[in-house]
Amino acid sequence: MSKVIFEDTSADNLIELRNISQSYDGGQSWIIKDLDLLIENKKGQGEFVAIMGMSGSGKSTLLRYVAGLQQPTEGEVLLRGKPVGPDNRVGMVFQRYSSLPWMTVLENVALALEYQGVSKKERNARAMEMIQMVGLDGHQHKYAQYPTLSGGQLQRVAIARSLLANPEIILMDEPFGALDIKTRLQMQDLLCEIWTKFHPTIVFITHDVNEAVYLADDIYILKHAPAHFAAHVHVDLPLDRNRLIKRDSRFTELVHYVEDKMIDVSNLG
Ligand SMILES: Nc1ncnc2c1ncn2[C@@H]1O[C@H](COP(=O)(O)OP(=O)(O)O)[C@@H](O)[C@H]1O
Ligand SMILES: [Mg+2]
Repeated sequence: MSKVIFEDTSADNLIELRNISQSYDGGQSWIIKDLDLLIENKKGQGEFVAIMGMSGSGKSTLLRYVAGLQQPTEGEVLLRGKPVGPDNRVGMVFQRYSSLPWMTVLENVALALEYQGVSKKERNARAMEMIQMVGLDGHQHKYAQYPTLSGGQLQRVAIARSLLANPEIILMDEPFGALDIKTRLQMQDLLCEIWTKFHPTIVFITHDVNEAVYLADDIYILKHAPAHFAAHVHVDLPLDRNRLIKRDSRFTELVHYVEDKMIDVSNLG
């Protein structure tokens, strides 16, 4: 009799925040209380998660946990089932200052591979692929600083660096918040392209509801202190998107729905 082999369809967990609480005054007050988040490892597919919530609700703190920059007062932060530590931390794309200004674009993008001991020839070749991917070909020998590069170009450097360092997970903290509207829309399209090509899991903080609906598969909304996720909206638009989706009536419906949810959540005690 042939042995029955069960295909493992249960996706393992990529990022897990378990029962997280955060206090800065020894437990007298809680910024975050009993927060859970599970992002599964949808193999070969990835997931685009947007985190929204009012300023000061703890969004950046959550990403800092995942990036290994901070530990919660209580609870566990797991990456692929293991506590976040020096061997499995993930880089982050911030609103500003994500790159090292005393290094060139090429050096910035290749940096993680240098840490991994990859030969210079190989790391430069792989970095150049990413530089082309994000549309910075020709700028690789410029210093990654403003105003040598524009704000949008600097974010392209950060995205390329993050993709090369850890192609599976990209953490982005209001990455396009400081960009003018045209650049911002271009960066959103770039992120769509990257997502369609590599299917990474992206955790993305934004205040812009249109941006969240355009980019994300799932939107989680944090209530203010003591924070936890008070709403989850699944964005039932096609996975691979381009800007035409913004003309779809479902897109508009979802934007209004998320706006209403944000208001509901902001009224919670
Ligand atoms: N080191 C700290 N000491 C005290 N409070 C802090 C510290 N770091 C962050 N906070 C507080 O934690 C809350 C959440 O901060 P943050 O995660 O940056 O929020 P968000 O990114 O949603 O705007 C804020 O109210 C902030 O003042
Ligand atoms: Mg923040």
